[in-house]
Amino acid sequence: MLGEPPRPVRVGVLGAGTVGAALLRLMARHPHLEATAALVRDPDRPRDLGPRPVRVTTDPDVVLDGADVVVELLGGVDRPTELMAAAAARGARLVTANKAALAERWDVWGPWVRAGRVGLEAAVMAGTPVVGPLAGALRGSRLRSLEALLNGTCGYLIGRLEAGVAFDDAVAEAQRLGYAEADPALDVDGIDAAHKLTVIARLCADPDLAWSDVRPTVRGVRGLTPDAVRAEVAAGRRVRLVAALEPDGAGGWRTSVEPRSVPADHPLALLGDGRGALVYRGDAVGEVWIAGPGAGAEATASAVLGDVLDAAAGRPGPTPIAERVWSATTPS
Ligand SMILES: NC(=O)c1ccc[n+]([C@@H]2O[C@H](COP(=O)([O-])OP(=O)(O)OC[C@H]3O[C@@H](n4cnc5c(N)ncnc54)[C@H](OP(=O)(O)O)[C@@H]3O)[C@@H](O)[C@H]2O)c1
Repeated sequence: MLGEPPRPVRVGVLGAGTVGAALLRLMARHPHLEATAALVRDPDRPRDLGPRPVRVTTDPDVVLDGADVVVELLGGVDRPTELMAAAAARGARLVTANKAALAERWDVWGPWVRAGRVGLEAAVMAGTPVVGPLAGALRGSRLRSLEALLNGTCGYLIGRLEAGVAFDDAVAEAQRLGYAEADPALDVDGIDAAHKLTVIARLCADPDLAWSDVRPTVRGVRGLTPDAVRAEVAAGRRVRLVAALEPDGAGGWRTSVEPRSVPADHPLALLGDGRGALVYRGDAVGEVWIAGPGAGAEATASAVLGDVLDAAAGRPGPTPIAERVWSATTPS
């Protein structure tokens, strides 16, 4: 009827931890978005969910029932994938920040992403837009190579090694400051960066890239020493944990995640202190640098909310590149 206010868009939120709680606080700025409920493990834990009342539950059906958009902020691989399958079966639009599930369960997520049903901007470099440009404006060029700093914890650890702090002490500091998980292996061993690299490679190089092909190419920062890192600084270079997508010399792509020594004037050295950074090289566009916050509650929730607003407005999510791009034979 003319003049009737539009129905609010109902948003189900799976997870009300660091990012989920920040999302609910930011959502309060948008009266047309209404949370159905938030799924948690421990409903008695105190949490700041913002000025609007939000039902907190351990029952996924309470979150999924009637939701137009379902946002997954649980972490993990199999449980979030199962719950999002239930959301997809109910016809909801999907939003996630979960690079692990996207990378490892592409068999399930791939068809949804191909159909434009999933917002996933926050899964790579948190609040800094990378997914949008790779699935949009940068498609006008053909990829030559891509290098990125995709894990802030490793950036922090390398900074502390440069300051002379021993590796284990630097990890303990990062845990105290909330930068590293209680089990820091996903960060320190390069797995988190590799998850993100897998997600972006499917957007710009190979839509069928398998996690099992990426996983063996990953080496993290464990074993780096202050002496080794400081020797690079003394030589006018910096150590970075670089996630790269480069020509393999035979027309395909080589992925890698590994500590590399780069010249001090390399964009990843210049941009990398405490930020996420990505250098895209394309045949027509040339070299494009993107840098900004690669983690953090509000920064991540900002990108999640952007995806929720897109989904609420009926705009499709990013899709993988249509078919595999053939690489030039050498990196440019
Ligand atoms: N933190 C960041 O800076 C950041 C940046 C980019 C992407 N991400 C991604 O965002 C996602 C969420 O990260 P986060 O840092 O917000 O994690 P988190 O603080 O550990 O929060 C996870 C939330 O999910 C709930 N949860 C987990 N497993 C559950 C289960 N099986 N059943 C019910 N509830 C469950 C937890 O409940 P309780 O609160 O009761 O424990 C908590 O509310 C992850 O995929 C992460 O990789 C995070």
